[in-house]
Amino acid sequence: MKDIEIITKISERSYNELSDTERKLVDAARKATEGSYAPYSHFRVGAAILLDNGEIVTGANQENAAFPSGTCAERSACYYAGANYPDAHFDMIAIAAIGTDGLETAVPTAPCGACRQALLQYETIAGHNVRVILVGRETIYIVPSVRALLPLTFAEF
Ligand code: THU
Repeated sequence: MKDIEIITKISERSYNELSDTERKLVDAARKATEGSYAPYSHFRVGAAILLDNGEIVTGANQENAAFPSGTCAERSACYYAGANYPDAHFDMIAIAAIGTDGLETAVPTAPCGACRQALLQYETIAGHNVRVILVGRETIYIVPSVRALLPLTFAEF
């Protein structure tokens, strides 16, 4: 018998402790929440992806009267990036959200399971870690890779 321990290292930082590039991406994710269409949940999520060609692609959650037809901010951003910059690779993603109280979430916003799986695909294609920045009002988490958020990943390649 053997136990397997999976450890995820997360770095907790304040906005001022981020690099210029990280700060720029956090700003873009915060701005992207403005594009959220969330008449049902009133939870506005924004995501910003830095590509290796220098472009920053953003997305926001888009809800639908037929609930499952809506999509999360992370997937709206990553599918836009894949569709419009098929040759570029992801370097980093930042995620921010405005809660139902109209304030940025105190707890850093983390991607749902489906978005983790979707993002993992692009990390695999990139062939290197894609840093994930989870933004909260005062606290920001830096996760070194998508894989770190999705241990025992399903991947067919
Ligand atoms: N949402 C995201 O945009 N990203 C996530 O990772 C989790 C949830 C959205 C979906 C829905 O529009 C709203 O947040 C409430 O769940």
